[in-house]
Amino acid sequence: MQILDGKLVAKEILDTVAVEVRSLTVPPRLVVVLVGDNPASETYVRMKRKACEQVGIVWELIRLSAGDVTTESVIDLIHELNQRDDVHGILVQLPLPSHVYVPQVIKAIDPYKDVDGFQAYNLGKMFLSEEFMDLSPCTPKGVLKILDHYNIDVKGMDATVVGHSNVVGKPMSTMLLNRNATVTTCHIDTKDLKSHTIGADLLVVAVGKPGLVTADMVKDGAIVIDVGINKLADGKLVGDVDFENVSKKASYITPVPGGVGPMTVACLMENTLMAYKKNTVKK
Ligand code: GUN
Repeated sequence: MQILDGKLVAKEILDTVAVEVRSLTVPPRLVVVLVGDNPASETYVRMKRKACEQVGIVWELIRLSAGDVTTESVIDLIHELNQRDDVHGILVQLPLPSHVYVPQVIKAIDPYKDVDGFQAYNLGKMFLSEEFMDLSPCTPKGVLKILDHYNIDVKGMDATVVGHSNVVGKPMSTMLLNRNATVTTCHIDTKDLKSHTIGADLLVVAVGKPGLVTADMVKDGAIVIDVGINKLADGKLVGDVDFENVSKKASYITPVPGGVGPMTVACLMENTLMAYKKNTVKK
């Protein structure tokens, strides 16, 4: 069994981004909009800020209180950011409060500044082919980059993705399909999860439920990618996979922490640099 070291691969990406950012006369600027006080969001935003500081991307955080915002007010703010020439990347941290309609908010983001790759234009490009992929969702992009680093070719593999969110599961399934894996996507209404995981050569789990995937659900020699980041009552961070037992069966496995998490942030830095280039060429 080999550990897929996301921290190491992420560092390589961050170092490459940092070299390029330092060569620019005007650095890229990323604006993050954070609504409310979700503790997980606070942690993610802190990690994004740290990565920006590390690579030389200018960081701007706009904090809004949940009670003050409406769908319209968030959209107005995004329109302002779209207009600002000094802003190259816009990220609205999710989740938003339930009274804010997320699809409308995402739709308002200039596709050239959409560093999350959540905009319909960018998702459409990803849907068409890997070659045509543009700004694309950071977590599944990060998973592909880990696989590439370890020379894992998914072509022809039976791949099962557990979770069908717009942030991870759906784009992950599409990206694996673009690479000609045979993809099964499982979700909350899947009748018999184990029947879909047990045959998988590649298993990607992105649900947010500690201990969801146990050793009996995994094929010998499977590649296991754990996207979950869960904080237990004692403060310990764990994924969705029972790492201790599943790692005895897997050929490769990502740890939590130190697996997919750092890759997501590194890909965000890469996307911000890509967005910068698009926005400076456009003018
Ligand atoms: N919340 C959880 N993951 C993400 C992400 O990748 N982007 C944004 N904007 N919010 C998130």
